[in-house]
Amino acid sequence: MGEESTSNDFAHEQGLTKEQVAERYCKWAQNSKYERDLREENYKGPVIAANAVADLFPNAAQKSSINILDAAAGSGFAAEKLKEKGFSMMDALEPSKGMLTLAKEKDLYQRTFQAFLDGKQLPIESDYYDVVLICGGMGEGHIPCAGMEECIRMTKPGGYVVIVMREQYLSSVAEYKDRLEPHMKELTQKGKWEPVSRTVVPRYSFNNNGVVFVFKVKGSS
Ligand SMILES: C[S@@+](CC[C@H](N)C(=O)[O-])C[C@H]1O[C@@H](n2cnc3c(N)ncnc32)[C@H](O)[C@@H]1O
Repeated sequence: MGEESTSNDFAHEQGLTKEQVAERYCKWAQNSKYERDLREENYKGPVIAANAVADLFPNAAQKSSINILDAAAGSGFAAEKLKEKGFSMMDALEPSKGMLTLAKEKDLYQRTFQAFLDGKQLPIESDYYDVVLICGGMGEGHIPCAGMEECIRMTKPGGYVVIVMREQYLSSVAEYKDRLEPHMKELTQKGKWEPVSRTVVPRYSFNNNGVVFVFKVKGSS
């Protein structure tokens, strides 16, 4: 794994504030190093995410009218794969200026928001997106459990929240251990969303398994 895994550790170091995490990604984005380190042979998250979203909308004609928020968009890897699948209406939410600059250069997004998904209300419409996607945005110092409610708020009733993350983080990240899945379950019990699937996938990044959560939103109020 060598240098690539070192870069991932650098962005996932314990004890960083969210601002420091975003700053680390700015450094990683420099000279497109992030894009080289996490090229498709090493990081399959974006392909896995695009496949998961495409499976929800099998009708080809439908895809061009599906409105997607790519949350923790990074340099736009997931949007590139979604575009290949026929999706074209995408916005990006990304706190790291350096990553967002790379994403903007690709001309994939209608709107971009430089902001954290951290539980506070974002300047984004309620009940707006058919899909809110988080691909690779979960991790040490990354999106907290409290971000789930905001994903639900921005998603139309009947729309989906799709979360693709490294499986190991469910137990190795203190914010998620014994908290993230119970929180997801609590949101189900409160009638906010219903689980559609929970799928463990091999070789999500390097040799690490991933997990893909799909939820169907019922309503934010
Ligand atoms: C591993 S990258 C994934 C980027 C892209 N989705 C991909 O799959 O290539 C993780 C991204 O999450 C962003 N991030 C970290 N904390 C976040 C937060 N609280 N809210 C939104 N994005 C966050 C980082 O800035 C970084 O761009």
